[in-house]
Amino acid sequence: MITLDHLGDMRRTHSCGQLRLGDVGQTVTLMGWVARRRDFGPLTFFDLRDRDGITQVVFNEETAPRAHGRAKDVRGEYVIAIVGRVVRREPGQRNAKIETGEVEVHADEIYILNDARTLPFQLEVASSDGLASEDLRLKYRYLDLRRPQLQKNLRLRHQVVREIRRYMDEQGFTEIETPVLIKSTPEGARDYIVPSRLHRGGFYALPQSPQLFKQLCMIAGLDKYYQIARCFRDEDLRADRQPEFTQLDVELSFATLEQIYTLIEGLFASVFKVIDAQLPVPFPRLSYAEAMRRFGSDKPDLRFGMELQNLASALEGTMFPAFQTALAAGGEVKGIVVQGGAALPRKTLDELQEYVKRYGASALAWIKLADETSSSLLKALGQETVTRMAETAGAKPGDAVLIVAGKAKTVAASLGALRNEVARREKLIPENVYAPLWVTEFPMFEFHEDDGRYYAMHHPFTSPLDEDLPLLERATEGGETELLGRLRAKAYDPVINGVELASGSIRIHRRDVQRLIFKALGMTEDEARSRFGFFLDALEYGTPPHGGIAPGIDRLMMVLSGTDNIRDVIAFPKTASAADLMIDAPSEVDPRLLEELHIKIVKD
Ligand code: AMO
Repeated sequence: MITLDHLGDMRRTHSCGQLRLGDVGQTVTLMGWVARRRDFGPLTFFDLRDRDGITQVVFNEETAPRAHGRAKDVRGEYVIAIVGRVVRREPGQRNAKIETGEVEVHADEIYILNDARTLPFQLEVASSDGLASEDLRLKYRYLDLRRPQLQKNLRLRHQVVREIRRYMDEQGFTEIETPVLIKSTPEGARDYIVPSRLHRGGFYALPQSPQLFKQLCMIAGLDKYYQIARCFRDEDLRADRQPEFTQLDVELSFATLEQIYTLIEGLFASVFKVIDAQLPVPFPRLSYAEAMRRFGSDKPDLRFGMELQNLASALEGTMFPAFQTALAAGGEVKGIVVQGGAALPRKTLDELQEYVKRYGASALAWIKLADETSSSLLKALGQETVTRMAETAGAKPGDAVLIVAGKAKTVAASLGALRNEVARREKLIPENVYAPLWVTEFPMFEFHEDDGRYYAMHHPFTSPLDEDLPLLERATEGGETELLGRLRAKAYDPVINGVELASGSIRIHRRDVQRLIFKALGMTEDEARSRFGFFLDALEYGTPPHGGIAPGIDRLMMVLSGTDNIRDVIAFPKTASAADLMIDAPSEVDPRLLEELHIKIVKD
């Protein structure tokens, strides 16, 4: 057993990331974890790590035999303190990879403050490919968090949240907390529910967002509200989703669309300055319809072109069944032009074919403009039509056109995704570029074919465009239900580099309009009352026009830290199946607790 030393009243004079050439000659006390040790007989080297960086510490048998002897007992991740002298490294020994790389500390004393078991995985790896499995790292998250990259992300998150608070305060907003034990608010996902002990059979729901509370703040006359709010959604998870996540929730009264655009552009511009990036303001705007038409996506990545080209005009008079059926049924034939794509190997085209199938496309056709035009469509359509298609798409010699036919929705989804995939594979995305935009005028409703009804695309408190209000009346009061599909909303999403960073809308402030929206959603008056009675009542007591937005802070942090894994920007995240592997949640609870809550678990 190794004897441990006491910290006593010893204090650090510097952090492990602080020492520079200017400190040479000073005696310093450093504390931290031993990241790496190397033994060369009379000399032992430690990389000493704390949250600030790494400093090389040298133990010399000749000049400090006692410290050198004790250092032999130290293993990786032991916690130590050292006292020593800062020395300039020999020119050949400098390490440009670390900020303290021009100096080292020659230790005179060492204090072993704690030992450590061998770690279940290695922290120091050459690249992210070398990392241990994510599940293992999540089980020991407190160890994984020792990695400098994660520490850096969390510190950046702190700086960003601090900047958000500063900006919102400067703009006259008040930070207001809203409750977490609430009644279900519909945002499209399932609620997490919490049983009540005092109200037998009663449940609270955790907020999917503070939507109704922030609107109630406006009715209360609080005027400009914001909150860094934790939201909970029991939904299928993806790389950019967590079951609990954080929003900057914002609402303001008497707000116009323009006011909200300016507010949020200013916010993002200030926040991106934290990473020394300049966002071009104002952001360009695209209506949802235009974004879908040109990019096949309501969150287009504008760092590169490759817009979707409509090829229908080139196909007039042709009789290729796959295309004609699609067009005759009101569908589309569209393509993207891949610059230099004539060199794409067959294998890549096959892989891309499989890729678009995931988005519902039945096939991917292609045209390559090399010395000779080749195409998967040559036999079916003939040289002339194929050439006309390539021309219509705007392809140049050396390019390829990748083509999908089918329902408009499928063509958009598959080509929209293919556009991103090709850009990624062919390295067409410039680095350190931020391309923001607003996507506006979202449809109010989405039709779900599986149950044959309309759902709110944003949420049911979103206002339709003023000029579309007559359509709402005709659809709900006049029985022309199909008009619901044409209704546009005062809803907007800021998107940066293909990531939806926020969603917001101008809200309905009139009771009569809110009633029609619930009706459009197939809710009877009674159902609406039982779910939102409190809110419908509130709308009748002088509700100011208002609107708001909610940037997702985790998503924002993903873009700022340049990661595509949301877990890299959250201290204690959950897995894709909503589990916390470290604390083992969710888990069973004491049966007595269930009894108190009057809950029986039915096992099948
Ligand atoms: P919405 O549901 O679009 O709108 O959410 C707003 C933003 O929150 C982020 N986000 C998520 N981030 C991580 N994990 C998730 N599961 C997740 N879900 C959403 C996204 C998204 O753009 N109440 C409305 C806002 C409003 O109308 O003001 C709302 O919550 O960045």
